[in-house]
Amino acid sequence: MDNTERKVANGDGSDLSEQIKEVTKDSHVRAENTQLMLNYQKGQITLPQYKILLCSLYEIYRALEDELDRHSTHPAVEPIYFPQELARLESLERDLEYFFGAQWKKRVIVPAATHRYTERLREIGRSSPNLLVAHAYTRYLGDLSGGQVLGKITQKSMGLGKEGVAFFSFPGVTSPHRFKQLYRSRMNSIELSVEERRKVLDEAVRAFEFNIEVFDDLQKMLSITEGASDGSGTQNGSIIPLKGISGSPVIKLTLGLCVALATVGIGVYSAF
Ligand code: HEM
Repeated sequence: MDNTERKVANGDGSDLSEQIKEVTKDSHVRAENTQLMLNYQKGQITLPQYKILLCSLYEIYRALEDELDRHSTHPAVEPIYFPQELARLESLERDLEYFFGAQWKKRVIVPAATHRYTERLREIGRSSPNLLVAHAYTRYLGDLSGGQVLGKITQKSMGLGKEGVAFFSFPGVTSPHRFKQLYRSRMNSIELSVEERRKVLDEAVRAFEFNIEVFDDLQKMLSITEGASDGSGTQNGSIIPLKGISGSPVIKLTLGLCVALATVGIGVYSAF
């Protein structure tokens, strides 16, 4: 049993916010080191990559915020329910409309991993709303931390002004540092039995895992579509030439997307 497991098992009074940070430490490192996030940190994010990431974030926040709204008065949700300060859905809708136009809803495409993530959010909304705090923590505190740096990189890499980057901006939060302190103290005020707390901590690790799987699926889709648009595709992570494809970039991209969809599973769908 490691230190964290001992602390949790003993219910030794350590705060939920400290425990959750501790148990997700390794997962955070793995999330930062996914290919998509590494490319991002190097400023190697392109507009198609950013747009496809926004689509997945939209589906994730739609599920998360639906469930938080539905359970806003639940004792394990109320203390961490901050729709004015944190809600991301409307910002994502604005960004998607900016990039895809008025018909943006028809253009939302997500991989199977995003679908699995949103299914899990809906499921815990139905059966264990206590666990929503694990998902809200993982996404919102991440957005208020590393997410702020990623926002600046997004603007710079793609030469964007204020439009298209609403997702990263929290007008209701004057100081992310102070807000995170408040959020942690609210998390710590939630009353949970040792067993319930154990489940929340497990769910937080799972929440990071879902994010990692989404990034990996998006990376696969992108490698293939980008490979296809320059006349090559990828298989098992390496670039292979798509022989005999000499059509327009649209045909190549369509073919690439079909290969990508087959690779990342059948969970790719358009919203509505
Ligand atoms: C490029 C990728 C990333 C970078 C550079 C990054 C960086 C950071 C930094 C600097 C902090 C602040 C630590 C502190 O205040 O003590 C942080 C916190 C956090 N990050 Fe990330 N992060 C990245 C990706 C992610 C991802 C993908 C997630 C989850 C989906 C995530 C979730 C979190 C959470 C929940 C916290 C709050 C930790 C706590 O104080 O309890 N991060 N991140």
